Amino acid sequence: MPELGVNIDHVATLRQARGGVEPDPVAAALICEKAGCNSLVAHLREDRRHINDADIKKLRRVVKTRFNLEMSINQNIVQIARKIRPHQATLVPEKRQELTTEGGLSVTKNSAKIKRAVELLKEKDIDVSLFIDPDEKEIYEAKAIGVDIIEIHTGRYSLAVNREATDIEYRKIKNAIDYSLSLGLVVNAGHGLNYLNAKRIANIKGVNELNIGHSIISRAIFSGLYKAVKDMKALIK
Ligand code: PXP
Repeated sequence: MPELGVNIDHVATLRQARGGVEPDPVAAALICEKAGCNSLVAHLREDRRHINDADIKKLRRVVKTRFNLEMSINQNIVQIARKIRPHQATLVPEKRQELTTEGGLSVTKNSAKIKRAVELLKEKDIDVSLFIDPDEKEIYEAKAIGVDIIEIHTGRYSLAVNREATDIEYRKIKNAIDYSLSLGLVVNAGHGLNYLNAKRIANIKGVNELNIGHSIISRAIFSGLYKAVKDMKALIK
């Protein structure tokens, strides 16, 4: 059974909408752990649009399962990661204008830079994963530059609009996972997975972990809204 990593960026996004202190992504992390998640994921973006430096310091202190810091290979961010020393770093491409991580890393085109970042992180005993598209060339290159873990980008599968397109994307992911396992890599998967489409990916033999954020936090609003209103009504009374 694959493990579950919960991405809590979306809690910080809501906090940033008001620029205050709630909801606190660190408090969210503790609830996720209590509910049985296997790791917590937070992306320290260069523009700090959601998770900030103080969050990752606290997360490193309080997370008891595994803290997986999602990050670009920007030199400043790499230096911050070396100081914080999360259990794992997942390297992703990052564009200022994007709403979310749009594609996987192009390892073949940027292998020297990525390799350097991987070495700097590994030097501090941080496990390193590369977020890549289900593409054999990219997977081969990831292995060649010395990473042990990859995460396959499931975004295209999640966004596929009909059964045929979903099956095509699923097949790419399945083949990519099989190929990665044949190279001895640990394979995770994530992006856009939700309560309808995650099961099929979870059933792929050998997948180590699914990293899911948006759909879990979205569902939490509805599963918690009834009680939140009840609590406020009781307080007013
Ligand atoms: N894995 C990686 C590497 C990501 O960049 C993201 C999005 O931040 C996720 C998983 C989670 O994606 P989602 O929020 O769509 O579940």
